[in-house]
Amino acid sequence: MFWRIAEGRWGRKLRRGFGRIVSWDPFFGDMKHHDFAQGRMRASRIAIVNHMIRVNGYRSYLEIGVRRRSSMFEEIHCDTRISVDPDPAAEADYPVPSDDYFARHDHRFDIVFIDGNHTGDQVERDLEHALSRLNPGGAILLHDMNPPTRFHAREVYEVDGAYPSWNGTSWKGYAALRKKRADLTMRVVDTDWGVGIVHPGSQDIYQGPGKSFDDLARDRKRLLNLISVHEFLRLYRTPLNREL
Ligand SMILES: C[S@@+](CC[C@H](N)C(=O)[O-])C[C@H]1O[C@@H](n2cnc3c(N)ncnc32)[C@H](O)[C@@H]1O
Repeated sequence: MFWRIAEGRWGRKLRRGFGRIVSWDPFFGDMKHHDFAQGRMRASRIAIVNHMIRVNGYRSYLEIGVRRRSSMFEEIHCDTRISVDPDPAAEADYPVPSDDYFARHDHRFDIVFIDGNHTGDQVERDLEHALSRLNPGGAILLHDMNPPTRFHAREVYEVDGAYPSWNGTSWKGYAALRKKRADLTMRVVDTDWGVGIVHPGSQDIYQGPGKSFDDLARDRKRLLNLISVHEFLRLYRTPLNREL
């Protein structure tokens, strides 16, 4: 009940207004202005994607899950942009679920943003598909990787006819690869509900259970490999290795 009120229309307005004043939101994460490769701006998923494009000279972008082209897709500065979303209102280039898109097309990309169906199984499949289509030196970014409460990590979006903020169980798809893929580098930046970054590299695979929300809440920093925006800017100031 508490989260329903906090995530209601006025609760959200209050939280966001306060967040803008102190440049930090306990749910959303860092909202401060930082020096990204494309200029000084407030931290967000869009700022992080555009930073990766600018630093790495990426030329092709795929967005899985669009909702409205104006909310993110049109803010991404890349030569070639492709969108996938089965909802006709999204006006995506490919108006089909991501599984169908990957089954029918073999386009390759420098950068993929995963923000479609918010279930762990689907995000794991989207990640595996995106990895198989990634050009050398490419990266995959994911939204909603750091749900702050059990309420935000609920299974379904709708709550009594309303749609309060929702991260779903997307994080579980990311966690599945944290537990088995030593050949990847995986991190989550603490802004905009957690922006995941995955690319060929290396990592100490996560040894804990990492299955339930309690597991996440108990060991969030290690399970997600959570980093600050400041650390992101230090780690990703030069292009990724194209030889991996
Ligand atoms: C949270 S919205 C995306 C928001 C957008 N990326 C942004 O940052 O503003 C999630 C979108 O995923 C779409 N979606 C749901 N299931 C999907 C699937 N299997 N494949 C692709 N998109 C899907 C929904 O229709 C919805 O528009």
